[in-house]
Amino acid sequence: MTENPALSNLSHETRHFDPPEELAEQANVGEDAYDEAAADPLVFWETQAERLEWAQKWDTALDWDPPFAKWFVGGSLNVAVNCLDRHVAAGRGDKVAIHFEGEPGDKRSITYAELTAEVCKAANALTELGVQTGDRVMIYLPMIPEAAISMLACARIGAPHSVVFGGFSPESLRNRIDDCGSKFVITSDGGYRRGAASALKSNVDAAADADGSPVERILVVRRTGQDVDWNPDRDLWWHDVVDRQSDRHEAEAFDAEHPLFILYTSGTTAKPKGILHTSGGYLTQTSYTHHAVFDHKAETDVYWCTADIGWVTGHSYIVYGPMSNGATQVMYEGTPDTPHQGRFWEIVQNYGVTLLYTAPTAIRTFMKWGAEIPSEFDLSSLRLLGSVGEPINPEAWMWYREHIGGDNCPIVDTWWQTETGGIMISPLPGVTSTKPGSAQRALPGISADVVDESGQPVPNGGGGYLVLTEPWPAMLRTIWGDDERFKETYWSRFSKQGYYFAGDGAKKDDDGDLWLLGRVDDVMNISGHRISTTEVESALVSHPKVAEAAVVGATDPTTGQGIVAFVILRGGNDEEGADLVKELRNHVAKEIGPIAKPRQIMIVPELPKTRSGKIMRRLLRDVAENRDLGDVTTLADPTVMNMIGDGLKSDKPSAEE
Ligand code: PRX
Repeated sequence: MTENPALSNLSHETRHFDPPEELAEQANVGEDAYDEAAADPLVFWETQAERLEWAQKWDTALDWDPPFAKWFVGGSLNVAVNCLDRHVAAGRGDKVAIHFEGEPGDKRSITYAELTAEVCKAANALTELGVQTGDRVMIYLPMIPEAAISMLACARIGAPHSVVFGGFSPESLRNRIDDCGSKFVITSDGGYRRGAASALKSNVDAAADADGSPVERILVVRRTGQDVDWNPDRDLWWHDVVDRQSDRHEAEAFDAEHPLFILYTSGTTAKPKGILHTSGGYLTQTSYTHHAVFDHKAETDVYWCTADIGWVTGHSYIVYGPMSNGATQVMYEGTPDTPHQGRFWEIVQNYGVTLLYTAPTAIRTFMKWGAEIPSEFDLSSLRLLGSVGEPINPEAWMWYREHIGGDNCPIVDTWWQTETGGIMISPLPGVTSTKPGSAQRALPGISADVVDESGQPVPNGGGGYLVLTEPWPAMLRTIWGDDERFKETYWSRFSKQGYYFAGDGAKKDDDGDLWLLGRVDDVMNISGHRISTTEVESALVSHPKVAEAAVVGATDPTTGQGIVAFVILRGGNDEEGADLVKELRNHVAKEIGPIAKPRQIMIVPELPKTRSGKIMRRLLRDVAENRDLGDVTTLADPTVMNMIGDGLKSDKPSAEE
């Protein structure tokens, strides 16, 4: 197993922090939840499902035909009604659902009654455009309220949405549209990022204009007011179509297993996987975990998850979890450094944010900018801090606790994945004595373990592969259109035991607490975003000057990992200059999106290969991380590494250019 050497010492951490007394006394979930869930996990999840409003109660909690699960069989509900109408009906219509803050500083507070009306209008509009139950709707929007409104409108009419992060290229968008055969796209003219208006509609045009594209209708939100190309047979303005609709919409209840959304994520091949989530189980777990892990109190808390809606964190912990719990939350469009590096803390101060959920990459960036910046703002409203997306190193954890949390907020380090749908491993803030850098323990109702190559649990103190040993309500149901890949990717590695293979390495410390160590496959984690090495390699070799490419994730002090590419040029191309490197980096951004731009590209004469022709990425990672080379005797040509090592000491363009 390969593991990130920078993380291998983590589990020797000895500091721990007990929950603040006041929080522990009033916590939504106490220690007894573990025993209750252990006694009968299915009854436990049924109890949590009862927190929702069902049109028809289920007959059976779980139908498990490994690896295919059906939860709450026979039950039906409407997910949007659970996130909206239910709160209005209970007299909470005037409560703010979203405090939206645009990057340029425009503000909009939307109550649950207003949000419900907007979602009803959007649902009516989609129906008028011809969207039917089961149709896939692509959403490619910036972080504006219409993103959440669109998702909920889709959920309301039973049309699974597929949100694509606005930073993905037209090519990535097109692949996703084609894979799920989507006839409808919701986008905007653009959004604001780092003080400028970025374009989105033109990317959708490029995808929709491609030969054989299934796209028939594009609904466009006006956000920036910039000019956009317009195809009158296909394109419609949101304000023309949605605003004139009725704000009433009779919502149908759908089967608990009705598809809610498809979200694409990188796997170990070049083709992203469409992760399918369904309705009842997903909402049960995201709702419960938001309630339990963030100790969310609807009457008093102001919650802020800084993720983008284009990632699973935005789906589960901006839209479905918090809204099912009637949360008041902040939604921010832009970047943390626009117009100044205190923007996040200004938002916390202005809205009185009590629960903050962000990523280690952001925390490390704030560390770099310096503790004086947050110290200029009043952060005393905060009472709990969350972390997600990648392992959090103890230094960043301690800094977060001290400089943001004023030394009195519990930190919940939450491990989960696009595939798990909801949080799986995390401290419980009123129960757990937290340790800097450890996600610690599977939540009540969740069964996780660390096993060795043969699937045997490792003892305390040991390391191996993280597995999930029992089905859970928010688990992915399959990969869209590819049951075989679903079985192969997640269930074949430990098929004898029937375990779900998460793709992460982990350790158990002497107390049995879990420490996540990063991916063990060819998936990189850049700023908490998953990108596969193969995806970047195939983008590189699609450039006419590139013959062969190998990509590795190298430890990076801010982004967790950075992409380092080794490239062999085609015969006749002996350019090695900075211009070519820049051209290749831009090419990857064009093919996949700016998030996939390599931090560093090395033009090399050869790649290290075994005699059977397999690229030895371990060696490339050693080079990229400036380590002494490990064993090179299995290389077909051991001198290759000297050639590469010599070359790498030359120019290193930064990822910012
Ligand atoms: O490697 C783990 C890492 O992120 C992967 C999941 O990525 P994605 O599906 O994009 O979802 C990210 C947000 C849930 C995991 O396989 N990861 C996520 N959270 C943590 C983590 N690694 C360590 N600690 C975490 N808290």
